[in-house]
Amino acid sequence: MADLQESSYQADELIARDIDAYLAQHQHKSLLRFITCGSVDDGKSTLIGRLLYDSKMIFEDQLAALEADSKKIGTQGQNIDFALLVDGLAAEREQGITIDVAYRFFATEKRKFIVADTPGHEQYTRNMVTGASTADLAVILIDARKGVLTQTRRHSYLVNLIGIRHVVLAVNKMDLIGYDQAKYDAIVGEYRAFAESIGIGAFTAMPISGFVGDNITHKSAHTPWYDGPTLMHVLETVELNVTADQERKFRLPVQWVNRPDLDFRGFSGLIASGTVAPGDAVRVLPSGKTSVVSRIVTLDGDLARAVAGQSVTVTLADEIDCSRGDVITKEDEPVQVADQFEVTLVWMSDEALSVGRAYWLKMGTQTVSATVQAPKYQVNVNTLEHMAAKTLELNAIGVAQISTDRAIPFEAYDANRALGGFILIDKMTNATVGAGMIRFALRRSQNVHWQALDVSRDVRAGLKNQRPAVLWFTGLSGAGKSTIANLVEKKLVRMNRHTFLLDGDNVRHGLNKDLGFTQADRIENIRRVGEVTRLMADAGLIVITAFISPFRSEREMVRKMIPEGEFFEVFIDTALSDAEARDVKGLYKKARAGELKNFTGIDSPYEPPMAPEIHIDTARMSPEAAAELIIERLIP
Ligand code: ADX
Repeated sequence: MADLQESSYQADELIARDIDAYLAQHQHKSLLRFITCGSVDDGKSTLIGRLLYDSKMIFEDQLAALEADSKKIGTQGQNIDFALLVDGLAAEREQGITIDVAYRFFATEKRKFIVADTPGHEQYTRNMVTGASTADLAVILIDARKGVLTQTRRHSYLVNLIGIRHVVLAVNKMDLIGYDQAKYDAIVGEYRAFAESIGIGAFTAMPISGFVGDNITHKSAHTPWYDGPTLMHVLETVELNVTADQERKFRLPVQWVNRPDLDFRGFSGLIASGTVAPGDAVRVLPSGKTSVVSRIVTLDGDLARAVAGQSVTVTLADEIDCSRGDVITKEDEPVQVADQFEVTLVWMSDEALSVGRAYWLKMGTQTVSATVQAPKYQVNVNTLEHMAAKTLELNAIGVAQISTDRAIPFEAYDANRALGGFILIDKMTNATVGAGMIRFALRRSQNVHWQALDVSRDVRAGLKNQRPAVLWFTGLSGAGKSTIANLVEKKLVRMNRHTFLLDGDNVRHGLNKDLGFTQADRIENIRRVGEVTRLMADAGLIVITAFISPFRSEREMVRKMIPEGEFFEVFIDTALSDAEARDVKGLYKKARAGELKNFTGIDSPYEPPMAPEIHIDTARMSPEAAAELIIERLIP
C-alpha cells in the first residue's frame, strides 16, 4: 500500500489544485479525461474499480474510507479487497447522488487519468453532459446479456453531440454469457448500425468483464477470438484533445485583463486552440482591433511559443481595448461575432425552458444575457425523429434560436468546443438549467446595426423639464392597478408632467393582440411592453404601466433596461380573496367555473415583488391616497 499515495477530492477547486500538484509530479505524463456511460446495472462501478485496482494507484482518502469500511465488516489483511473497493465506489456514488459527477483519478506508467463517473439513471442526463464536456474519450458500457438499450442510444447520441472524438464500446459481463463470440458480434453489429445513423464514424469494440478482469489490462485467455487491444491499451494510447487542439487556429479567450498580481498590462487566459509566439500579428474580437504579440508570460518565465492547453499572459505592442470574454486570434484568422444563433440545447432543469425569458448565457470566459425562442424541434433520441415542441422539459434535446443582448465572439461547436459550447443559468436561482452548442449564427444578426442618434435622451427629457421615470405597477387582476395608475397620471398631468400610461387590457387589443395567457405569452407580453417602456422613457416621458406582470424574472429584466434610479416597482397588494370578491370583470367567476384557463392566482402563479420601491396595501388605503403616496415618492 506504500505506493498508494495520491489524494482524491471531489470538489472542483480541489480537483484543480490536485491536478496541478499532480502535474508537477508527473510532468512527463499526459492526462486523459474520459467518461463511462451505461445504465444502472451495466457494471460501471465494477469496471472503474477494476481500472483503479489494476493500475494500483488509487488514492489516499478513498482508501481510508475503504479501510474504515473493512474494519466495520471485520475484514483483515493488508491488501484492499477488489469487491470492497467496488462496493465503496458504488456506495459513495449513491450517497453523492446530488453531486453531478464524481471524478476519480488513477495513473499508470504511461498516463494519468481522470474518469468522470456519472449515475446511470435517465434523469441524470445532465450529469453525463457535465462529465462529458471535457472528455477525450467515452466508454459506452453494454451488459452482454441485455445488448443495446435505450440508454445506450441516448448516451451515444449525447457523446456524439458533445463532440467526444473517441468511443469505446465495452461489451461487459462476457463471463455471464460464456464468452459467446456470436452474441458479441451481434451486439457490435447492432450498435454499429445505430452509431452510423447518428454520425459516429469509428469506435473500438471490445469484449470485457470488469468483474473477472478480461481485456481490461491483460488480454483475456477467455476470448481467443478477439484480437483487438485491451481497454487500458486504448486509454494509454488514444490521441488527446489537447494534442489535436494544437493543430487548429489560435484562440485565446481572455479571462483576466491586467491580473492584479502582475505589474504590467497583459491579457491572461487558457489557450483554447492553436499556437502563438512573440511577433505574431493578432486581432481582438469583437472589436476587430489588431496588434502584435510582444511577450508571452507564464509563472515559469517568458515563452518563445505557447500552445493549446497552456495558461498564459500575453502582452501586446499597442494599447488596445480588450476585456474579459474577448477572444484573441491571429490577425487573418478571426472568429465570428454575432448575437443570434441556431443552437442545440440539452435541458437540465426540472423547470421547463421558459421561452422568451432572459437567462445568463455563460460561454468560455464571457457571460451575457440571452433569450431562447420556441424550439424548432425536439429530438427523440431513440428513433432520432424530430418532434414538434413548445418548450423543453428535463433531459430534452432540441434545436432553437437564441439571441444574446450583445454581439459575442464565437465559433461553431463542431469547430471549437470552448468557443461554441455554453450553459444557461437561471437569473433568479443561479442554477444551471441548460447546456447548449452553437450550430451557426443567423445571418440577420450580422446585418442589423445600431444607428447612432444625435439627439440624446437627456435633450428630449430636458425640453420637457423633467427626468424620465417608469412607474411599473404589478399585482393581481382586479387589484386596482388601472384605477390607481389613472389617478396618478391625471395628477402628474396637472403638475405639467409629460406622461404615458400603458395598460394591459388596452395593449392586448393592439400591439399584443396575438398573445394569450400562457407562461410564454405573458413573458413575451412583458418583454414587448418593456421595450416600449424603454423607448418612451428615452423619449423623455414618465411612463406608467399597469400589467399583472406575474413573474419576477421579467420585472427584473425591465428594471435592468431602465437607467438606475428611474425604475419604480409599484406593488398593488390585494389579497386574492378581496380581488375575487370584487370581481369587477366577472373573470374570477369564470375561472373558478373552469371556463377561463391559466387565470392568475387560480391556476397560473403570481410571484409578488421581494423589495418593491412602493408597496400599496389596498385594504388600508383608498385609490386616491395611494396615488398621492406614489406621487410623493416619485417627486419628493
Ligand atoms: S400579464 O400577466 O401578461 O401581465 P396583462 O396585465 O397583460 O397580464 O393582462 C391581464 C388582464 O387580462 C386582466 O386584468 C384580465 O382583464 C385579462 N385576462 C384575461 N384572461 C386572463 C387570465 N387568464 N389571467 C389573467 N388575466 C386575464
